[in-house]
Amino acid sequence: MSLLRQRRPVVGTGSGRLLDQEPADAAGVRLREVSKTFSRRRRPGRTALDGVSLDVEPGEFLCLLGPSGCGKSTLLNILAGFVPADSGEVLVGGRPVTGPGPDRGVLFQTPMLFSWLTTWQNVLYGPKARGTLTPQVHEEAERLLETVGLADARDAYPHELSGGMRHRAAFARVLINRPGVLLMDEPFGALDAITRAAMQRFLLELWQQQRMTIVFVTHDVEEATLLGDRVCVLSGPPGGTKAVIDIDLRRPRSYDDTETLEFVNAKRRIREVLER
Ligand SMILES: Nc1ncnc2c1ncn2[C@@H]1O[C@H](COP(=O)(O)OP(=O)(O)OP(=O)(O)O)[C@@H](O)[C@H]1O
Ligand SMILES: [Mg+2]
Repeated sequence: MSLLRQRRPVVGTGSGRLLDQEPADAAGVRLREVSKTFSRRRRPGRTALDGVSLDVEPGEFLCLLGPSGCGKSTLLNILAGFVPADSGEVLVGGRPVTGPGPDRGVLFQTPMLFSWLTTWQNVLYGPKARGTLTPQVHEEAERLLETVGLADARDAYPHELSGGMRHRAAFARVLINRPGVLLMDEPFGALDAITRAAMQRFLLELWQQQRMTIVFVTHDVEEATLLGDRVCVLSGPPGGTKAVIDIDLRRPRSYDDTETLEFVNAKRRIREVLER
């Protein structure tokens, strides 16, 4: 019996199953009038976010775009529970965010891996720390490493992996927790074009099958158009919600779609809002 549950009808990904893992329930995200000012010693504080409101539906892929310094990372860090908001409402799965938790997987531009642990140990770190290591978790870790193409690199340390491999290891490390929400801050920004395209394809296939909620920060209009159901454009600094744009391109998407007229038009609409 397939453990995979798809939350929306999809046309098929054209690839085999990525994960043989029961997905966590995708959680919705709700931000209401969220503000954040970073205090600075003897100088006026720096307002990073000024009344941001946004809803992300369970299972939606939302991209966040905006000029440098407009508070995208701050917003993600607030959702991750790393940074508290000064005011406003921050709910994930209907519950107020009070700190980090395994229900939210976070991926940064630099993959977060412990340098002194092997790929295998990195993937199992979270369950071990929480005391939830079971034979089933070990099996899942095996499957995840297969999925991300790192079965042969199980005993390698991070410095022995390529950039793309490190990213895939970080993915596996996050996915072992079955997060309902993935928070991604320019995760592929530092990768070369080929590895980046491969990681985008991997992420699309993963999301297509697991349908977790994704909030994905990027500077790249093409990446946002390729990946997102909607693109939220932030104004600023300080950050406020400028517009939320529907990307009504068919799914599943692939790089071939980037050459279609619909894709180019969608990109243009986003650019116009960004430059407004
Ligand atoms: N920990 C912090 N302490 C003080 N100021 C901060 C801190 N984190 C962010 N800021 C400030 O908040 C503002 C928003 O920063 P943030 O990193 O969220 O922007 P961003 O949109 O992610 O930018 P970029 O696109 O360059 O990554 C900036 O003015 C930044 O200097
Ligand atoms: Mg940032």
